[in-house]
Order: sequence, then structure tokens, then C-alpha cells
Amino acid sequence: MFRFFPQKEKYQRSTTFNFNPQGPIPQHVAIIMDGNGRWAQNRRLPRVAGHKEGMNNVKKITKQASRLGIKVLTLYAFSTENWKRPTDEVNFLMQLPVDFFDTFVPELIAENVKVSVMGGIEFLPDHTQKAVYDAMEQTKDNTGMVLNFALNYGSRAEVLAAVKSVATKVQAGDVTVAEIDDDLFSNELMTGFLAPELRDPELLIRTSGEERISNFLLWQIAYSELHFSPAFWPDFDEDHLLAALGDFQQRNRRFGGLNKEETK
Ligand code: IPE
Ligand code: IPE
Ligand code: MG
Repeated sequence: MFRFFPQKEKYQRSTTFNFNPQGPIPQHVAIIMDGNGRWAQNRRLPRVAGHKEGMNNVKKITKQASRLGIKVLTLYAFSTENWKRPTDEVNFLMQLPVDFFDTFVPELIAENVKVSVMGGIEFLPDHTQKAVYDAMEQTKDNTGMVLNFALNYGSRAEVLAAVKSVATKVQAGDVTVAEIDDDLFSNELMTGFLAPELRDPELLIRTSGEERISNFLLWQIAYSELHFSPAFWPDFDEDHLLAALGDFQQRNRRFGGLNKEETK
């Protein structure tokens, strides 16, 4: 049966124009790319057509993010829970990185973008693993934006692995319990390969109107600004990204403290 999934509004024009090119740009932006299936179903297309369109959109948003001066773009591409989907859909999703990097690596090199991947990569099919490792190798000397894919990623698994790693170090006598602090722990997480000041996204965007985290970066988003866009991921265009950044620029980030004028 055909079912139409309404998008609340395409984007808020007023928010778009709040973006100030001279204003602060978050160094690390993370995106939960959601709504591919609904985008396709609204067009009476199979869900996987939405994933293909979503992949093309990754290319556009990557280039725009890099040109805006964002330093790290983390994209949630496949969660540890997404294995629950029908086999055909999972197989299609596992083929996407192959197609993506086959066609996009030359442009990533031209843009000076460096690819990284975090998640349970060893559980992915061989062709998917090869595609991501080849892309990382081919872009390893690039010094611009880091394009970081979360692939077979789940934050609870990530936190548990970090806890186990720290516990093993304590057991071996390499770390004392008193030494376990934010810095030590964040180093053990999958974002630990990034410079400490880049590990936590300043801005987390979720598309498709859903307002939940779905097991993404639970530790790292402790103080992130959250932006929920009504657009399905394939429709999330450059204006939507500027709207999200404009929204970020209007936020008052206090980190539990007070603004200067409030202390008077
Ligand atoms: C996001 O789109 C892509 C992945 C989770 C792999 P969805 O496939 O979740 O699309 P909806 O949410 O069903 O519309
Ligand atoms: C989150 O989207 C995962 C990715 C975007 C890869 P889902 O569509 O899987 O999340 P839920 O099921 O709506 O929470
Ligand atoms: Mg979804």
C-alpha cells in the first residue's frame, strides 16, 4: 500500500538568512543522515533508490562542508542496529561505499579531504572493507577536512570497548584507577584518533524530522548543539546546511557557566 510521509517544511528561510559567513563555524559537525527510505517511498521508488540518492548527497555536502572550513565531518552511514533490516537492503548499503569511493576519491583528493572510518569495520563484507581501506590509503596525505564515516557504528559498543580497554590497562598495572579521567577515556573512544579539541562535535544535525540520537556519539555530544532538520537526507541541500550553521551561530553556549553580563 502506498503511504506518503510528509516533510514538515523544506527549510526555514528566515533561519537560512541567519547564517553569517564571518561568524563562527563549528570545527566538527556530525550528521545522522536519516530519511532515505521515506524519500524514496514518497516517490513510489524502492527504499534503496533513496540510499543511492543519499550517497550522491554525501558528495555535495562533503564538498560544501570542506569549502566552509569545517575541519571534521562525521557521517552516520550504518548503525550496529541497521543489521536488523532486510538482507537485500543491507547488501545494497554494503555496496554503496564501493560505488561511492570508486567515483569520488579523485574529487576528495582535489578537495584535500582525508577519509577516515569508525565502527566495527572487521564485520563488514570484504568488498566493503577493501573500499574503505583503499580510500583511507589514497587520501592519507591530505591535510584538509576529515570525512569520517561511522560504519557499523554504535556508541554503546564503543563505550563498552573503551571500558574494557581501560580495565585491561588497569589490570596490567599500566594505568591506575585515579588516572582515569575525561581525557584518558576520550582517547579510548573511536574518535580518539582525532586531535583532542576536535573529538566532540560542536554541532549534531539529524535530518528527516526524527528527534533522537539512535546510539550515536553518546559521550562526544555531551555539550553539542542539536539541530533537527525536517528534510529527508536526499533533500538536505546546501541551504539546509547553511540553515543549520545559522542556527548554531544563534545559540548561546554556556557549558554550565554563565555569560559575562549574567555575572554582574
Ligand atoms: C538513513 O535512512 C540511512 C540508514 C539508516 C542506512 P533510512 O533508511 O533510515 O530512511 P527512513 O528513516 O526509513 O526514511
Ligand atoms: C540512524 O537512523 C542510523 C543512521 C542514520 C545510519 P535509523 O533510521 O537507523 O534510526 P532509527 O531506527 O529511526 O532510530
Ligand atoms: Mg531512518
